[in-house]
Amino acid sequence: MTIKRRGDSGGAIAGGHGAGGQPQAGAKKIQLGVEAGADLPPFIDGDRALLQQALYNLVENAIKYTPEGRWVKLCVRAYPEALLFEVRDNGIGIPAADQPRLFEKFYRGSQREARQQRGSGLGLSIVRSIAERHGGKVWLESQAGKGSTFYLLVPVKQAAGEKKELTSP
Ligand SMILES: Nc1ncnc2c1ncn2[C@@H]1O[C@H](COP(=O)(O)OP(=O)(O)O)[C@@H](O)[C@H]1O
Ligand SMILES: [Mg+2]
Repeated sequence: MTIKRRGDSGGAIAGGHGAGGQPQAGAKKIQLGVEAGADLPPFIDGDRALLQQALYNLVENAIKYTPEGRWVKLCVRAYPEALLFEVRDNGIGIPAADQPRLFEKFYRGSQREARQQRGSGLGLSIVRSIAERHGGKVWLESQAGKGSTFYLLVPVKQAAGEKKELTSP
């Protein structure tokens, strides 16, 4: 599959997505915060629908594996050649033993609290394939009982000529 090259701002990707996660968060009384750095590059090369799907999967997990009344945050930061999306929660966390296999197809965590939630175990494998198709990567930091942060790094890779083309009507 090829990536549809479409310029898009990181803020639009994160903001558009953050709004998409609101109903699920609201139903669990989870505060969903979206924070976009002021210095984001105006455009990145990438497929907006795929990147939003990846963020959706991460935010959906954060909400699903976080008990009622806590919080989930989606942040986007700019680096010279990449955008870094961070999805942070203060939920059930992931034991170190589960972490190496998390991005495999159909893999579901071993914890009882995780198994109580319905799922196919496909969400993170899709995130990983979307990251790789954009030349980026996904990884996590987590401690059981304390919460998790998933990082999605997407290269900006923007050629000078493209911006003009993308901004003209
Ligand atoms: N934010 C999170 N907090 C705790 N566990 C998580 C989180 N995100 C993913 N997981 C763990 O990773 C596993 C794989 O996630 P995923 O591929 O999205 O599948 P699914 O959500 O359908 O189980 C989950 O079953 C869960 O154990
Ligand atoms: Mg999932």
